[in-house]
Amino acid sequence: MHSTIRRLSFSVLLVSALALPLGAARADGDPVKGEKFFRQVCAQCHIPLPGDPLAAPKLNGIIGRPIAAKEDYRYSDAFMARKAEGMIWTEENLVAFVRDPRDFIPGTVMQFVGVKRGSARANLIAYLKSIQ
Ligand code: HEC
Repeated sequence: MHSTIRRLSFSVLLVSALALPLGAARADGDPVKGEKFFRQVCAQCHIPLPGDPLAAPKLNGIIGRPIAAKEDYRYSDAFMARKAEGMIWTEENLVAFVRDPRDFIPGTVMQFVGVKRGSARANLIAYLKSIQ
């Protein structure tokens, strides 16, 4: 019952996202759920704690940061090309990347299929904001 309502309201949000700025549709992300999801799905590669092994670039402070900004991480050529273009990790870019990394940045070495569920992406963004 509850999940039906959630799914319904999400499709309403999807429709309104066509007309509204994307930020409005994602305002309700839950950072606690986002952290749980991050730990299950992203943390195996991205560990946003100082001193941990560098499997992937750390993501604290990611929102508003230029792409490929971590000096101690060697990014793919695809990422370096976006950096040269001046790409910034806005919320919109993050959502698009997390939805389908290799579609948004062909040639990325991030071996990850993407987060297809919109609410999970919203929660993730809310979590990433909380570790700015
Ligand atoms: C299998 C390992 C792996 C998983 C799982 C993974 N990533 Fe990544 N991620 C990477 C690698 C490697 C890069 C660097 C990509 C490149 O250089 O092409 C990266 C890059 C990124 C960047 C850009 C960082 C920067 O400094 O520009 C973001 C944002 C990101 N990942 C978010 C996520 C999120 C959110 C998740 C979970 C939904 C996730 N990743 C899951 C390996 C992973």
